[in-house]
This record gives sequence, C-alpha cells and structure tokens, in this order.
Amino acid sequence: MIIAIDGPAASGKGTLGKRLAAHYGLRHLDTGLLYRAVAKAMLDAGAPLADEAAAAAAARALDLSSLDEQTLKTETLGEAASIVSAYPAVRAALLDLQRKFAACPPGAVLDGRDIGTVICPDAEVKIFVTAAPEVRARRRLVELRARGEPADEASVLADIRRRDERDRTRAAAPLVPAADAHLLDTTHLDIDAVFRAAVAIVEAARGG
Ligand code: C5P
Repeated sequence: MIIAIDGPAASGKGTLGKRLAAHYGLRHLDTGLLYRAVAKAMLDAGAPLADEAAAAAAARALDLSSLDEQTLKTETLGEAASIVSAYPAVRAALLDLQRKFAACPPGAVLDGRDIGTVICPDAEVKIFVTAAPEVRARRRLVELRARGEPADEASVLADIRRRDERDRTRAAAPLVPAADAHLLDTTHLDIDAVFRAAVAIVEAARGG
C-alpha cells in the first residue's frame, strides 16, 4: 500500500506520516528532507541558490541514507529548500529515487507537496492536510523552541506564508491537492485526533 500525504509547511504531515507508517508497518519518507538536503549541500559548498545547474547536480548526488532530520529541519533550510525545489531539473533528479522508495514492498507513506499529483499518482490513499497559517506557525514555533532555535511567532508566520505562496504558485509541481485526495483540516485537531481521522480515511479507501 502507498499512502500519499501532501500539504503546506508545518501542517503536521510529517508527524502523521510517521504514525501511519508505524501503524500499517510501512516505510516512511519525509520528502521535504530531500529538498532541504539539496539546499544544505548548496549552502555548504558556497553555491548561490539561484544556480539551477548546481542545485540539480546536488540533487543527483543525494544519498537517501545520509538524511539527518535534526540538522535539516531548520527555518533557514526550509526557506532555501523552497527556492531550489522550484527548479524542474532538481525535481526531475529526485523523481526516481522517490518512486523506487514507494514501490519497495510492503509499500510506504510519503509526505510532501506533490506526492499525490506527481510522484505517486496511483497511490491507494491520498490525504491533503491543511490548517490555518496561524495554527501552523504556533506548532512550528513550539518545535523550533524545543530544538533550542531562537524564533518569534510573527517571523515564523511570515516565513510560512512566503513559503506557501512560493510552493503554490511555482510552475513545476505546485502545491495543490490531487483531484482524488481526501482533505483533512487539522486546525482544531490535536495529533491523536488527526491520526484517528487519517486511519478512518485509509480504512474507508481500503474497504471501498
Ligand atoms: O515539508 P518541508 O517543510 O520540509 O519542505 C521544505 C520545502 O521543500 C517546501 O517548502 C517545498 O518547497 C519543498 N518540497 C517540495 N516537494 C516536496 C517536499 C518539499 O517542493 N515533495
């Protein structure tokens, strides 16, 4: 079984993806980490983020086993990832790797922006997670503070809005729900309620 989860920044799709994968015995890939790792490789090498060819080369050199969530989940890398992820050559370089991951038995949960639309259009279950920007900003703030990253609510909210706008309006694989995705608004739900709602969606999809 393949479960595709998409949604905007800090919508809770990563946490949901991990829990669904554990529940159904599937592998999990947070595809945002791929774009964050490409951005990090560029910044580490001193390459300008505007250099699409260098970004594509960094994407081709990416090693899935070396993704370190702790170092990649910063606000700076989220913003940089959203710049390099708009390059078609970067997305093309990461396509096969994601599809191979998804196709490996017993299946997988992938979360990102284009999983249901581009990477796994035939996924058995597609969930598009949303939440009000203010709620997402508060959740992200709690995460950042827990990791000791200094952050204030207004700038996290501004970052989230800017990133959403860029991800939604880019030409290559924009953030948009697949026509057959189930919408899950988590604005008023805690993680347990989100998980229960998602399991209900998966069970309904399997039953149907
Ligand atoms: O999900 P996360 O916030 O880690 O993603 C970082 C950035 O990577 C996003 O803002 C988006 O621009 C990009 N991304 C993408 N496609 C995906 C996953 C992430 O374009 N499947």
